[in-house]
Amino acid sequence: MSALPVIDIHTGAAPVLRETVLEFDQVAVQLGGRQILSPTSLKIGRGEFITIIGPSGCGKTTLLRAAAGFVRPEGGAVLRQGRLVGGPSREVAFVFQDYAHALLPWRTVQGNVELALEAAQVPATERAPRAQQVLQTVGLAAHAAKFPAQLSGGMQQRVQIARCLAQQPELMMMDEPFGALDAMTREGLQDELARLVRETGLTVLFVTHDLEEAIYLADRVVALRANPTAERPSLARVIDVNLPRPREQLATKEHPEFLRLRRELYGYLGHGHG
Ligand SMILES: Nc1ncnc2c1ncn2[C@@H]1O[C@H](COP(=O)(O)OP(=O)(O)OP(=O)(O)O)[C@@H](O)[C@H]1O
Ligand SMILES: [Mg+2]
Repeated sequence: MSALPVIDIHTGAAPVLRETVLEFDQVAVQLGGRQILSPTSLKIGRGEFITIIGPSGCGKTTLLRAAAGFVRPEGGAVLRQGRLVGGPSREVAFVFQDYAHALLPWRTVQGNVELALEAAQVPATERAPRAQQVLQTVGLAAHAAKFPAQLSGGMQQRVQIARCLAQQPELMMMDEPFGALDAMTREGLQDELARLVRETGLTVLFVTHDLEEAIYLADRVVALRANPTAERPSLARVIDVNLPRPREQLATKEHPEFLRLRRELYGYLGHGHG
């Protein structure tokens, strides 16, 4: 199995060898007869938080879908732990922006989380305690018996995240998960997600339109460019974010390195990124 050297962002220590959990090897995707992703290569280490940013239509969702095995590339290969990804797997969880449609309205919060356990064929007697444990983790234990429509948007999105955690995945794909939330709720969920990821060791691919969110959450930011052609690869730039963790909404965003990265990405993506 391949490994790539990285600085350990949690300890700030010298380079460590981190196992590669996901690898894009010259992945190219065509949809509707059109080249959507030009050959893209990227290795993602276990426990890494990768954010993906780029203008609308540049292929961010397509990249996530290819990583999750929902889309089969025309060229190259997606490898998970060195094995070819041939289709969807319970090892990979997917959080959608549209929480309202992702949750079943006729099931309670707990019932929605238990869906993941049913899919994993967890015995019926174990489902309720496990669902309650995960709901505790995301701060929703007191709301287990409510229905999605009785919750705020932020809480509904937490239910979706809880359902993914119940699946005990290795990788979590998040497609603009906080895009529909107000700024305060969004910042709260960013910090909560960062904590969950630290505690679980999950590897995350997180798509966002928000430059600050991309830097704030990431170990590395992947910037994509629009209208890729074979001559101009869609994978534009990968930027390391060596900001101390845990991150803090005020201190991190005032850090000179944060401002430098923000300027670099802004200049690179131009005004059309959002
Ligand atoms: N099933 C499909 N068939 C044909 N074209 C598709 C299909 N899915 C996506 N596309 C096209 O592929 C391109 C990339 O789509 P994708 O959804 O990956 O972009 P995105 O970066 O996620 O955009 P957004 O920021 O708007 O979500 C777009 O031009 C889109 O129209
Ligand atoms: Mg998208």
